[in-house]
Amino acid sequence: MSKYLIKKIIQIDNNLSLKDCQKILFSEDCALGILDENREVSSYVLSEHIDRALRFDLQNLPIRIIATKCTNYNIGVDNNFREDYFIAQSPKEVEYIVITPKEQEVFINLKAKYKKNIKTHVQKAIEFCSKAADKIDLPIYLIGGAVRDIILEKDNFDIDITIQESAINFAQYLQKTYPDICMVKDTYDDFNTAKVAFNIEGEEVHIDFASTRIEGYAFPASLPVVKETGCSLKEDMIRRDFTVNSMAMSLNEGTFGNLIDYLGGYDDLKKGIIKILHPLSFIDDPTRILRALKFSVRFDYALDEFTLHLQKECLQNGLFDGLCTERIKSELKQTLNLNKADCYDRILSEDIYKLIYPKIDPKSQTLPQGQIIEQIINKHTSHIKNKDLVWLIYLGCLFADLDSEEVGMLIKKLNLNSVETKILISGNTILKNKDSLLQMQTLFEVYEFFECHFTESILMALAVTKDETITYYIEKYLNELQFETINTTGKTLLEKGFHPGPEFGYILRDILKEKINGNIQSKEDEDMFLSTIQQANYAD
Ligand code: CTP
Repeated sequence: MSKYLIKKIIQIDNNLSLKDCQKILFSEDCALGILDENREVSSYVLSEHIDRALRFDLQNLPIRIIATKCTNYNIGVDNNFREDYFIAQSPKEVEYIVITPKEQEVFINLKAKYKKNIKTHVQKAIEFCSKAADKIDLPIYLIGGAVRDIILEKDNFDIDITIQESAINFAQYLQKTYPDICMVKDTYDDFNTAKVAFNIEGEEVHIDFASTRIEGYAFPASLPVVKETGCSLKEDMIRRDFTVNSMAMSLNEGTFGNLIDYLGGYDDLKKGIIKILHPLSFIDDPTRILRALKFSVRFDYALDEFTLHLQKECLQNGLFDGLCTERIKSELKQTLNLNKADCYDRILSEDIYKLIYPKIDPKSQTLPQGQIIEQIINKHTSHIKNKDLVWLIYLGCLFADLDSEEVGMLIKKLNLNSVETKILISGNTILKNKDSLLQMQTLFEVYEFFECHFTESILMALAVTKDETITYYIEKYLNELQFETINTTGKTLLEKGFHPGPEFGYILRDILKEKINGNIQSKEDEDMFLSTIQQANYAD
């Protein structure tokens, strides 16, 4: 438990700006505490965080947006004081006070779970890494999502290994030690990371190596820059997003499987809680708001109260203007590809849409409910060839209210590729042309209308439309019309004496038209139709 020394208590406004807070604190002060109505210290702000926020140009924002809730600290205040804030001084304890609520108390070894959950050929590749590291006395750890998923006994396909040395040098050393089976695929000097591929009995195993690192952010939502590599494992964990993603597992022989959990990730995993590590986490990297949603829905976990509070503050204050939207795209894709109504609904109800486009109206009647979209996707899942595109159906529904110009802007902002762009524009076009669809006289016209659109775009329109006729047409097209075939082929036409040429296409199309419109059903009907057009001079 850390104790603060209460230096003085002063009364300040609840909405005091960060700039004014800094004026109150002297250089030796480490925190400004906030008392609740019971005179308990309910939250506090570290002067170090105030300094960082001011470097981010956030001087006019209220102090509460970066306040940390006191749950794990023993901070006493003299009850005779009536004022609402105190200043604390305890320089030695500042370093980890916010981010390390408690040291790991229970010893946990994950070897048995690792053996059970990690594929055999991946284990073999890891064994080569461990042996090589042991030979040079190098501590080596599995880190991040893989450790989380071993504890949860879930599949994980990304193996991230961290070491306190240069990851690039270690990767090259691996290649030299095992030249027949190990190859360095890529190296990134800025982050000192390397991608390595092992060939284990004919199977490729990819492992990402990283050096432990401390990161910094030049401005809110900017890309992180590496401040130091080769730092302690603890410092490397502190730069990460959530407690459950900030655990490591030793891969060295003597300690293999030992869990290293400085930040209480194991407890949070057991309790089902997604918790950020410091109050500036969402300001540094707002994509973590989407990541929190992704993990929360994927594992059915709740956001811890303080994390939710900071998420709201970040979204309300729009602290993401500098956000690199490609990062948003990647997280949005992973989140919506879970195909869970909850993701879409919470993007609207928790104001997360502001990260994508603040002008989306979450209360608009045009926007369908997540449950409707999920049901439609599940019902038509056999028609969706590439499940990786499911997220675009949800995204299109979020954009349903926007005009073509705005959709175009968003496509640019999210840097969508050409297929993704076509799917969104096509969905938007269907909705914009619903009046012409309603005027159609025949099923073939309906067929012609939809055949040039992507299934994902059509499903998006199906989710958005409230018109029964359009719903009927879309269902009819998806379940029947698009699969309609005819017996006649080019060969049949040649046999019947038609001259080969572009006319073949028109004739076959005409037969299909008659079939879709219900005028012909059997092969005999098709032959009869051909005789009619032969007489009408399609052929000699
Ligand atoms: N990370 C982070 N902040 C981000 C993205 C990632 O701190 N914005 C850290 C987390 O510690 C995470 C690790 O980098 O565990 C690897 O990132 P990623 O592969 O995206 O996450 P996983 O946890 O492996 O998630 P998933 O299972 O969805 O791949």
